Amino acid sequence: MDDVTKHNSPQTGIWITYGIGVYDITSFVPKHPGSDKVMLAAGSAIDPFWHIYQQHNTKEVLKLLETFRIGNLKEDDVIGTKDLDNPWATEPKRHPILKAATQRPFNAEPPASVLVDSFLTPNEFFYVRNHLPVPEVNIEEYELEIDVELNDKSKRLSFEELKKLPKHTVTATIMCGGNRRGEMMEIKPIKGLPWGPSAVGNAEWSGVRLVDLLKEMGVESDETSHVHFEGLDTDPTHTPYAASIPLSKAMDPRGDVILAYEMNGQPLNRDHGYPLRAIVPGVVGSRNVKWLGRIVVSKDESDSHWQQNDYKSFSPSTDWDTVDFKRAPAIQNMPITSAICTPANGDRLEAKDGYITVKGYAWSGGGQAIIRVDLSVDGGNSWIVADLDQVEQGTGRGRHWSWSLWTAKIPVKRGQKIEIWSKAVDDNYNAQPETFKNIWNLRGVVGNAYSRVKVEVK
Ligand code: MTE
Repeated sequence: MDDVTKHNSPQTGIWITYGIGVYDITSFVPKHPGSDKVMLAAGSAIDPFWHIYQQHNTKEVLKLLETFRIGNLKEDDVIGTKDLDNPWATEPKRHPILKAATQRPFNAEPPASVLVDSFLTPNEFFYVRNHLPVPEVNIEEYELEIDVELNDKSKRLSFEELKKLPKHTVTATIMCGGNRRGEMMEIKPIKGLPWGPSAVGNAEWSGVRLVDLLKEMGVESDETSHVHFEGLDTDPTHTPYAASIPLSKAMDPRGDVILAYEMNGQPLNRDHGYPLRAIVPGVVGSRNVKWLGRIVVSKDESDSHWQQNDYKSFSPSTDWDTVDFKRAPAIQNMPITSAICTPANGDRLEAKDGYITVKGYAWSGGGQAIIRVDLSVDGGNSWIVADLDQVEQGTGRGRHWSWSLWTAKIPVKRGQKIEIWSKAVDDNYNAQPETFKNIWNLRGVVGNAYSRVKVEVK
């Protein structure tokens, strides 16, 4: 079969190849969660994309693909696959405590019980969420590019130059937008990683204040512009991971946005964005761009896949046939949530003096403080108020960027089987919704319903 590209006109449909197979995927493209990504491969081999997006390498996906087969390539036209493993050759070593949902790209979370051991999550135990291979950065050659489209100013800063600027430290929790998706999936299947409650961590981040850099370049805050962050990790078409935040958040000295080169006093490690990442306190993890290569100040939001066609939430009744990603805003501030980290679901516990101890975290995006965590073991008929292990002071009102860890003692009887619920409340008196059923969404994001854990007392 000759050049497939020319067959990809609207009249003849969308063709791709995989191995020697040629497939007409026209009818499937609108149903694919990342249809814009599929179109990048239109008219050519999908193999290099699937080497990066390895979630496709399952029997189910291959079976589905076969239903679209329309022929085979001539042997000479098949793209060799021997070099395709290269993007993964230099992945860093990870601590075995991290339970991997996928190896390539690496996505992993620690056991929930580890989270409540310390207010600051140790770097090696901090969840990792990568969409692409981890880039290798030569620090001698590294430069951060800043382009201000609003005034046509540009600047390049070496790592040395960045480190000479005033250093600021912010303690902030980062949470993946898909944290707790696994619980939401129990309601109805979702395409996405089945995260438990540990796609979250709290750390002390040090680096340069973004507002200082932008002010230096003559940027003034406005209510409509955006700041794009582009990573050095790229897909097979050399498109970087990217996301954006409102300029007003970046320019607000009380927004505490920093370009961090240290995490808990250590240089950032490779998985968490070495040498530089954006820390956008209170905002969904996906905007905290790692391996930062370029910043753009623009009138428009980032057009990246992750800003436009992912990390958005919809009504529980919206499905892949009806979804219109343009109709929902990109998630920025995260909603209030809490999770029971210990005991774990299904545990059989020994009571001490008639009590069991329950521990967890609570966090609210946008800088809201956690004021209370309520627990119930009788389906909400009565509630026990947990002790907050530390009162998170933050850096001021509306600047409570860290989680609150909490502990509660619950009276129990021997042999009793209970379901423990947790529900947090923030200083706007926002509380978690009761069920995942009512907040289910097709991307499985912002899953913040009550945390529920079933245990038996021995
Ligand atoms: N930045 C780049 N360049 N590439 C990525 O894949 N993942 C984002 C964000 N920044 C990502 C990125 C997502 S979805 C999350 S939740 C956080 O990084 C995770 O940060 P961590 O891996 O340091 O925990």
